[in-house]
Amino acid sequence: MKLQAIEVPPGKNQTRRKTPKKVPLVTFAILFAIIPIFYRSHKKLSIPFEASVRPTSFSDDPCPISDTNDDTPSSNPSESHLVVEEKIPPRPTKHDLPPEKDDVGRRSDQSDRLPTGRKGRPGPKVEEEKEGIRRSVSGRPTKGESYDLDKCDISSGEWVPNLEAPYYTNTTCWAIQEHQNCMKFGRPDTGFMKWRWKPNGCDLPVFDPYHFLELMRGKSLAFVGDSVARNHMQSLICLLSRVVYPVDVSDTSDENFKRWEYRSYNFTIAKFWSPYLVRTQMTDPDDTTRPFNLFLDEYDKSWTTQIDNFDYVIISAFHWFARPSVFYINRRVIGCLYCPETNIAHKSAIFSYRRALRTAFRAINSLKRYRGVTFVRTFAPSHFEGGLWDKGGDCARKRPFMSNEIVLEDDNLKLYEIQVGEHKIAEKMGRRRGLKFRLMDLTPAMLLRPDGHPSKYGHWPVENVTVANDCVHWCLPGPIDTWNDFLLEMLKREGKSS
Ligand SMILES: *[C@@H]1O[C@H](CO)[C@@H](O)[C@H](O)[C@H]1NC(C)=O
Ligand SMILES: *[C@@H]1O[C@H](CO)[C@@H](O)[C@H](O)[C@H]1NC(C)=O
Ligand SMILES: *[C@@H]1O[C@H](CO)[C@@H](O)[C@H](O)[C@H]1NC(C)=O
Repeated sequence: MKLQAIEVPPGKNQTRRKTPKKVPLVTFAILFAIIPIFYRSHKKLSIPFEASVRPTSFSDDPCPISDTNDDTPSSNPSESHLVVEEKIPPRPTKHDLPPEKDDVGRRSDQSDRLPTGRKGRPGPKVEEEKEGIRRSVSGRPTKGESYDLDKCDISSGEWVPNLEAPYYTNTTCWAIQEHQNCMKFGRPDTGFMKWRWKPNGCDLPVFDPYHFLELMRGKSLAFVGDSVARNHMQSLICLLSRVVYPVDVSDTSDENFKRWEYRSYNFTIAKFWSPYLVRTQMTDPDDTTRPFNLFLDEYDKSWTTQIDNFDYVIISAFHWFARPSVFYINRRVIGCLYCPETNIAHKSAIFSYRRALRTAFRAINSLKRYRGVTFVRTFAPSHFEGGLWDKGGDCARKRPFMSNEIVLEDDNLKLYEIQVGEHKIAEKMGRRRGLKFRLMDLTPAMLLRPDGHPSKYGHWPVENVTVANDCVHWCLPGPIDTWNDFLLEMLKREGKSS
């Protein structure tokens, strides 16, 4: 079966509504603590694509952004006027993205918090090595251990059964965010936890927390991005929880900016909330239904001023680019996505994504004191089938796909190519000043995992209320634990190359 897992509605099909649609708050309030609401068009007004303003390109870029390839209106005149209702039944296509739980500008969102331990449950003690478990862990790294997989491309492969997984549960790890605690909310199957990624040319070792902690002794790791970046960080904390828990050393009460320390290893993890990676602003601080302003050529200082001293930075952002937004370059409006205005050029996420990534990577390359390695994590596709995210689309599969059963296509493919391409440009610029960029290429693996999302098991059901299924985030334990297999492997290679 060929399944198209599109993330972002194509720009050419953008439509406008005369009045913003009010989505019943209760619907989302359950799934997502704060609700950014899409201007989804249900009436699908037909509008011609407007002439777009050519944005100024970044003058010091080796590869100035041209507008010829992205975001061009359809060459088919009938298509540019027309709005396609979902007419190709079995394929989930052209859907919008569900809102995420977090929200820019709402920095006080408490639900993002990692619980600090719960009463009535014997939580593992912070900073206490759990000797009992040590024997069951695959072993500490031995000096001079050799990896013959250095040249192996770990990004292409298949999922193979791994009956030993999972390596933690919701009772051994407190770091599982509520909405990703699928077992708690009654997910009946557990098979989705029991797979590991097998690259075509080699074996990718399952995450070894001891080896990881030894490698990170005296080091620091930052996660920059959206709620999927947080999802990844929580997976790492859970995998490490077999050995030790970190202490919370955050210097702010803002849950979107956390700092954790593994004292016995002098290893720090931090999370920086930046779903667009560039500077943003809410058009109306009290109204999340209004589009966000994206300053596509301005740094988001909430992280760019903070990462100087980090040894490793994992940067990723994706899903928010499908939301209503107004695009600025040089502080001037140059376009928008799903905005009600008729006098602004309507542009797609493909337009904003390239520019935001370019700016974010440029920010990193401009940091005077930063000496770290930057991992650019490619995006993890969502898997809505049978409808749009807000029209009953769901991800109810119980097994991974084989790589020949599904391909990345259309806008997802374009956005993936943008990530890969922008990484390449950043890497080249970075090399000039001795900075390393590495592509953590997880998209091919994650495309094959429609079974790993919370679906309806991210909350309790509510009588008579339809809650959108979450096919964007990932259950823990679950497939994204593999991201840390990738991370450890890449860290090992880093250690060897330096
Ligand atoms: C953990 O998952 C089980 C089901 O496997 C569930 O009964 C339990 O409530 C969950 N516990 C927590 C603390 O999430
Ligand atoms: C911890 O690591 C930092 C570097 O990240 C280093 O400056 C510091 O001296 C280390 N502290 C200890 C106690 O080893
Ligand atoms: C749900 O709907 C049924 C039938 O329409 C109704 O009898 C029931 O009271 C509703 N429950 C709630 C909690 O609204």
